[in-house]
Amino acid sequence: MTILVTGGAGFIGSHTCVELMNAGHDVVVIDNLCNSSEKSLKRVEKITGKKVVFYKGDILDSDLLSKIFKENKIDCVIHFAGLKAVGESVHLPVEYYDNNIGGTINLVKEMRRADVKNIIFSSSATVYGNPKEIPITENCPKGTCTNPYGWTKWMIEQILTDVYTADNDWNVVLLRYFNPIGAHPSGLMGENPSGIPNNLMPYITQVAIGKLDHLNIFGNDYDTPDGTCVRDYIHVMDLASGHVAALKKVEKGSGLSIYNLGTGKGYSVLDIVNNFEKATGIKIPYEFAPRREGDVPQCYSDASKAKAELGWVAKYDILEMCRDSWNWQKTNPDGYEN
Ligand code: NAD
Ligand code: UD1
Repeated sequence: MTILVTGGAGFIGSHTCVELMNAGHDVVVIDNLCNSSEKSLKRVEKITGKKVVFYKGDILDSDLLSKIFKENKIDCVIHFAGLKAVGESVHLPVEYYDNNIGGTINLVKEMRRADVKNIIFSSSATVYGNPKEIPITENCPKGTCTNPYGWTKWMIEQILTDVYTADNDWNVVLLRYFNPIGAHPSGLMGENPSGIPNNLMPYITQVAIGKLDHLNIFGNDYDTPDGTCVRDYIHVMDLASGHVAALKKVEKGSGLSIYNLGTGKGYSVLDIVNNFEKATGIKIPYEFAPRREGDVPQCYSDASKAKAELGWVAKYDILEMCRDSWNWQKTNPDGYEN
């Protein structure tokens, strides 16, 4: 199949391009590079030995989308393009709603015009808010988000659900990611955060390489086994293969389907520090700091639905996730900029 990957130059998009191409699909990417580098796509080509068709541009640009659908026979869209910085979204809500929701509506309009009715969307466990059940199944009700970024995911899920309800010819797969970390095992591709990272693993790898002095652990008085927050970390390559599995489901006719993509295992912040030290032999100095606003104590998946219906399970363990995150950081200290 030929897949249009929006946001394909980004962290998860670029790794998914590799897995799609390795599975024999052709890939067309649209990305405005607002949070990525075109070099990631060169690395995709290096790893796969195949060409990526790349359009540098914005999903808010209807003319460009229309041109892409005319020039390529797209079978399915995998929609990663979006802004994702939680803290920034609190200060720039209009920009987040405009880019993420406006961009999705524009994309869906152009898909409809081109009669392409298959879409896989990057949602997030953030839609569960403070989850009503642990581990979280897809039946767990969506909750109250704590920031505009989370609300964009929540609302886009609703919009795509309504699109399906209005026209059952659509196949809509909503993938709720837990916490993606890791990098391509070759060390050629990985996460490329700009400025000081907000997320745990890139922060740890920057402490390990000496760019940051120590890790601040946000809260050690939660009602969890060691007092620090528990999350479901998943290797980005597993996430990527989850999209290939979802695509197979779309091919057979998925209708509207929702899947958690997680490992089903919860690790605390201290577990991550300990596993990182074990995987790399590098000591991570840390201090306990106050809780971070908006954090929930525990968030991990029940991933059995994806196993039963997609035949997909996460394969990489936590030590491999730490190893690959570090391998990427160590060989590319400045991300794609070196
Ligand atoms: P990323 O920032 O690395 O990738 C997003 C890509 O979209 C970037 O390359 C960016 O340049 C591009 N983009 C943004 N707005 C665009 C627009 N209007 N037009 C064209 N391109 C645009 O982020 P990621 O970590 O790879 O995340 C991919 C998707 O998965 C996002 O939608 C994100 O919200 C979602 N997600 C990510 C995580 C995570 O922890 N990384 C967790 C859950 C969900
Ligand atoms: C965050 C977002 C979530 C988003 C996800 C991926 C919030 C509330 N949630 O998830 O919406 O989908 O990123 O982008 O921001 N931690 C530290 N010190 C640090 C960094 C993190 O102790 O310097 C802790 C956090 O308190 C948390 C855990 O590490 O308990 C994981 O944090 P992070 O990587 O930011 O992911 P989430 O908060 O789970």
